[in-house]
Amino acid sequence: MDIYIDTANLDEIKQAAALGVLDGVTTNPSLVAREGVDFHTRLEEICRVVDGPVSAEVVATEHDAMIAEAEPLLQIAPNIVIKLPSIEDGVKACKTLSDRGVRVNMTLCFQPLQALMAAKAGAFLISPFVGRVDDVGGDGMEIIQQIRQIYDNYQYETKILTASIRHPQHLVQAALIGSDVATCPLSVIRQIMKHPLTDIGLERFLADWAKTMAQKKEPALT
Ligand code: E4P
Repeated sequence: MDIYIDTANLDEIKQAAALGVLDGVTTNPSLVAREGVDFHTRLEEICRVVDGPVSAEVVATEHDAMIAEAEPLLQIAPNIVIKLPSIEDGVKACKTLSDRGVRVNMTLCFQPLQALMAAKAGAFLISPFVGRVDDVGGDGMEIIQQIRQIYDNYQYETKILTASIRHPQHLVQAALIGSDVATCPLSVIRQIMKHPLTDIGLERFLADWAKTMAQKKEPALT
């Protein structure tokens, strides 16, 4: 499963990229607003750090305006993926861009039929938001399961990108279901390799090794 970071913060992206296993980046208008930076400049900076897919979202909600907004974003770098909302005009724009060979990430997906339409329109990625579904008492992972089944039934090549991840358990479930990608905040990426028993075990190994080294230095008794 590919792992993307879900942020527009350059320092966080650099920290995640330093792990050597970062596959891409997702941004959204809220994440960009949090940074208070110029969107295009920040995308250029991100694309200099990460060569995997970098999702850049349009804010237009009508087909022609979406395409017009996508054009300058596509000039930034070859790894830019255009992010469109899962609404009717988003599907139309997805088809227009996909037919041109542009990679599209259909975002704000909350039910499997939106994912079916995204796949039919040739989307590169579909982004179901599991955390936001859980937040309102639903079961976000059930939607991932349903989309996996639909895509497998018809051999759609659109990749499932599990988004709005809140904790490592979402990641485990996404991987078990067969999500192609998961995008997470840095806080979750940092939790991936954490386990208290690993820390305790490592501490014990190092303490025992120190004892072995100390014994080696002591002169043998005759
Ligand atoms: C995905 O591309 C979105 O940016 C993101 O995962 C939304 O997550 P949130 O629900 O934590 O805002």
